[in-house]
Amino acid sequence: MSQKSPILTSVTKSLPFTWYFNENHFKKELNKIWSDEWIYACHENSIKEPLSFITLKIAQFDIIILRDRNGVICSYLNTCNHRGSTLCKESQGKLKTPLLSCPYHQWSYNTSDGKLIKTSSFVTPKDFDKSKLSLTKVKFKIWNGLIFINLSKKNTPWNLKSRFQDYDSIISEIEFEKFELGHQWSKIINCNWKIFWENYSECLHCPNIHPELSDLVPIYSRRLMDIKEDPDWKEKIKNDNPKFSGGLRKGSETWSLDGSAQGRIIQKLKGKNDFSGHIYITNWPSMFLAIFADHVRVVRILPINNERTEVSAEWLFEKETNNDKKYDKKNVIDFAIKVMSQDGEACELNQKGLYNPGINSGVLMPEEYEVKRFQDWVRSKVK
Ligand code: FES
Ligand SMILES: [Fe+2]
Repeated sequence: MSQKSPILTSVTKSLPFTWYFNENHFKKELNKIWSDEWIYACHENSIKEPLSFITLKIAQFDIIILRDRNGVICSYLNTCNHRGSTLCKESQGKLKTPLLSCPYHQWSYNTSDGKLIKTSSFVTPKDFDKSKLSLTKVKFKIWNGLIFINLSKKNTPWNLKSRFQDYDSIISEIEFEKFELGHQWSKIINCNWKIFWENYSECLHCPNIHPELSDLVPIYSRRLMDIKEDPDWKEKIKNDNPKFSGGLRKGSETWSLDGSAQGRIIQKLKGKNDFSGHIYITNWPSMFLAIFADHVRVVRILPINNERTEVSAEWLFEKETNNDKKYDKKNVIDFAIKVMSQDGEACELNQKGLYNPGINSGVLMPEEYEVKRFQDWVRSKVK
């Protein structure tokens, strides 16, 4: 961020309210955003064992990501080529055999290449060509242990710096691939996916919606995300009260119930004087990474339909932390679930009010510069 305060200097109109529920608009976003961008699926260690899988639903898209018997990651559309049944019913699990067998009439596919291996018919017609009935592959990319899929038919380049809008060199330094999965959580929120991102992008709501978090990160109680939002920040930063200088409340190390990191600091963060206790790195439309002193939280956002969104989180820990019996993971997990649930309620409140006839859009206030950046991005994608 530059030296200049990023706050908006004039009133800006927010997106039309119909964009948050209109079916046709949602189809446009599916086409121009969700089928175009790289979408986060999971951390490699969420499918750690050979034959383990997850399924991913992005509106009507249904995708399987699995490891074959040799541990190689593969991805397919979760639809059988016989008469279109879903192949994997569960959202995650482990296959019993190296074949992906359809639960309807038991056609079986090779997990490694998607080839149809066998059908269940007595007789195979002469013109039946198995080779044309392989599972449909889905493009994917693994970066630093994080798996992304892409539904576009065109070649979508992977560019780390433009992928993460708030690129910070720390994300290339931290070896996420070595982290272990400590916990997973997921929740359906009754709101359009953009409502989630808009709420994520401002702290005007912090003191009311997140009293505990505003206590842990005192600057949030001033409704600011960053010290530089305050036009007088150069003066205020000299004050070592974190309410003005930013960072966590004195004596706290991480986002946890008691603020303690229980003596576990991520190796790469040790001795980093400029680490203020949290780094948030955004990747529209489907994920953000939150790096804390002792753990990383990856949050994934997927639209179920125009008015429902699935929010999932993976808590990643260094191996030693994950295996440390004295380290209580609940300290960070329960705190984050509290904050994410509070946000979920706020998002539902926002969504409910959008349908009132006669009000077409809202306005963005100075602190909502990140909301504007997000809305401008959406506008540029769907135009
Ligand atoms: S639909 Fe899959 S085997 Fe029939
Ligand atoms: Fe929030």
